[in-house]
Amino acid sequence: MPAALKALLAQLCGGLVAFVLLAAGLLPAVPWAAVGVQAVAAALAAIALGSDRWWIPIHLGFAPLLLAARTLPIAPGWYLAAFLVLLAIYWTSFHTRVPLYLSNQRTVDAVAALVPADRPMRVLDLGCGTGSLLLPLARLRPHCRVSGIEAAPAPFLLCRLRSRGLPNIELARGDFFAHSWSEYDRIYAFLSPVPMDAVWHKFEQEARAGATLISNSFPVSGRKPDQVIEVGDRRGTRLYLYHQPVGHKDARKKDKQGN
Ligand SMILES: C[S@@+](CC[C@H](N)C(=O)[O-])C[C@H]1O[C@@H](n2cnc3c(N)ncnc32)[C@H](O)[C@@H]1O
Repeated sequence: MPAALKALLAQLCGGLVAFVLLAAGLLPAVPWAAVGVQAVAAALAAIALGSDRWWIPIHLGFAPLLLAARTLPIAPGWYLAAFLVLLAIYWTSFHTRVPLYLSNQRTVDAVAALVPADRPMRVLDLGCGTGSLLLPLARLRPHCRVSGIEAAPAPFLLCRLRSRGLPNIELARGDFFAHSWSEYDRIYAFLSPVPMDAVWHKFEQEARAGATLISNSFPVSGRKPDQVIEVGDRRGTRLYLYHQPVGHKDARKKDKQGN
């Protein structure tokens, strides 16, 4: 079951428990009592539904914070504005389960070291965000074509503005799974564990022979990386490298002919 649906069910479940207890006269008819019961019941329902542990404090805090916010003298338009800003930044994160966080300079240096300085390679950043990797990489490797695809409008716009004056950057807005990856020598991903199987599948199917998938922090489950690089930053970043074997397309063609 999708995580967002589990969260909705848990909240509804909490609401139902509070409503039944109120209707049965087992709760004092004061808002905080009902909200407290709703929060605890929602958290228990989330546990029963097998939600990840970090959902529990969200369920415990959701309704109480709603009630607290209603007591503040804030015009409703501000809540709408905050929602729209968050929507523009996170966009489909509830569905992709990949939030926005940014690659740091040490990671940029480690990725740049995987792109030879003397060859005009093509590099793709899957979900380029605000361009934290793309921009410095384009400056460090001016003879390379550095491409980024980003789904969320606000980071994409910021990336586009920041990349003005860098002729070797190419940007597209949309879903990176809907684009071909066949033209790239290095494909960088800083996503989450959730899409890694699909990323691997597309890389294996489409990437050109000799291409490398560089995954920041999230390995592909069940696949031994060809190389692991310790970036040496404070968060202990690791880059997991997977190489597309040279001549793999020929090998696949031969397999098909053999069948
Ligand atoms: C963790 S951030 C990484 C940003 C950037 N690559 C960096 O290293 O600084 C992941 C980004 O991928 C984007 N994203 C996730 N799934 C996507 C998809 N299927 N298509 C396009 N962008 C996606 C998110 O919107 C988010 O901005």
